[in-house]
Amino acid sequence: MTPVDPGQPPLPWWKGGVLYQIYPRSFADSNGDGNGDIRGVIEHLDHFSWLGIDGVWLSPVTRSPNADWGYDVTDFCAVQPDFGSMEDVDQLIADAGRRDIRILMDLVPNHTSDQHPWFLESRSSRTSPRRDWYLWADPKDDGSPPNNWVSSFGGPAWTLDESTGQYYMHNHLAEQPDLNWWNDEVREAFDAVLRFWFDRGVAGFRIDVCNAIIKDADLRDNPPATAEDDFEAQMFGQRSVYNANRPEVHDVIRRWRRIADSYDPPRVLIGETPVHLDQLGAYYGNGDELDLAFNFPFIDSPLEAEKMRRIVAETWMRLPEAAWPAWTGSNHDMSRLATRWAKDDPRRARVAVLMLLALRGTPVLYEGDEIGLPNRHVPHEQLRDPLGVRFWPHYEGRDAMRTPMPWRNAPGGGFTDAGVTPWLPLDDPGSCNVEDQRTDPGSMLQLTHDLIHLRRDTDDLQDGAYRPLETDGGLWAWQRGGGHLVAVNLSDDPASLPDVSGRIVIATDRARDGAELAGDLRLAGWEGAVIALGAR
Ligand code: GLC
Repeated sequence: MTPVDPGQPPLPWWKGGVLYQIYPRSFADSNGDGNGDIRGVIEHLDHFSWLGIDGVWLSPVTRSPNADWGYDVTDFCAVQPDFGSMEDVDQLIADAGRRDIRILMDLVPNHTSDQHPWFLESRSSRTSPRRDWYLWADPKDDGSPPNNWVSSFGGPAWTLDESTGQYYMHNHLAEQPDLNWWNDEVREAFDAVLRFWFDRGVAGFRIDVCNAIIKDADLRDNPPATAEDDFEAQMFGQRSVYNANRPEVHDVIRRWRRIADSYDPPRVLIGETPVHLDQLGAYYGNGDELDLAFNFPFIDSPLEAEKMRRIVAETWMRLPEAAWPAWTGSNHDMSRLATRWAKDDPRRARVAVLMLLALRGTPVLYEGDEIGLPNRHVPHEQLRDPLGVRFWPHYEGRDAMRTPMPWRNAPGGGFTDAGVTPWLPLDDPGSCNVEDQRTDPGSMLQLTHDLIHLRRDTDDLQDGAYRPLETDGGLWAWQRGGGHLVAVNLSDDPASLPDVSGRIVIATDRARDGAELAGDLRLAGWEGAVIALGAR
């Protein structure tokens, strides 16, 4: 292995490191109420130290009536009591910091809860001083909504407020009114939110709905979808031209970046940016906007060599020179990679995690990825996600990827106490849990751990250039830096790569670790390996 060169300036922590998303309600319940909480995270910091995680992003822990499980906020600077207190957050930041683990929060600037005092005031009258903090517009002459925008959660993006006779706009639920980002007071209020958390030692934010916070000032109608448009546009019947991806969003991101950069160390901004690859680069600006922008074409891609290779190549081609990609395969909205990419086949999940951890860029794991946790079907009567409730049986919503983390094979799964009903059902913890995998050298957890530590210790795997090799079929192979090769076989058929001389450092089939190679690298179906070149 090529050790990290001590003469090189170190990469910023978030470039060299691995990030991990926690869905707090499902991570660990410290007080036996069936809901995960902040103390539960504190109690599992050892898991992150051992695994080699550098930064942890918590989905919202701020106050919320939970119409959308924390993504409908009533106070951006207070902790949701279910999750604990501000003292718990401070302790989490301090305890994690002692282990060199940074805490990132989720910022939800696009909208608030309809119970937020700002909205209650805004809707109280047309002359309220906060009226303009949200997007209000008159009905059309026939009483219908001001334009044709549809909510990404289905139905019109406008709801009529009977008492003031105007519609307010919401890109999600009616309980999530969108803020008016043309209003300077809104911008100032969020400056204060950013500073509030940065001053507490938070290392950065994942920014919710980052690409859509500002809307067309003239509220123009979206154009209809055409046959060439993507699935989403077809589903909504329109292209999101005027209610998302407006050019003015970049002024807001630059404003946040100036605030983030005024801290030492600079705070990190990671955007939820569900856009096409030709638009993704813009969110990095000239190094003055996001540090990382989530790559949805990559997450959405099937786990197929040809498609993934093309998306990764196009990502590198389209991102600005200094931009650094983020690679992720699961989150609380998109489902778990063990099910979506890997179709519940452990070989596929292993090769997917090897791929994520060996690409150039920052891997972001979602809780459970490290043990290959699959989605868990949640029966209709137990659904909690408003989308599942609304669209069942056509769409079961996002609960299946939000079920509790299984820590050990015991009643409650180590997530909560025996006998407690967790907020979402727990899968059989006997089938997949952290404790059993910790002691099994062949487990997915051990593989994830070893890959993360290899990446930590290997310059090539952190910063080394990504150079894809000529391959076909299900094989995808790339060189990292001068001394490492990564090969993944994303198919059932055996594959081979000629003329490889070196040593397998880690293979998904652990029996092959350490094997010397001189000639063809042969991979079984759904097998992957990291190879130190020339290390014979
Ligand atoms: C983002 C979140 C999602 C939430 C939505 C509305 O997409 O990731 O969970 O429902 O925003 O806030």
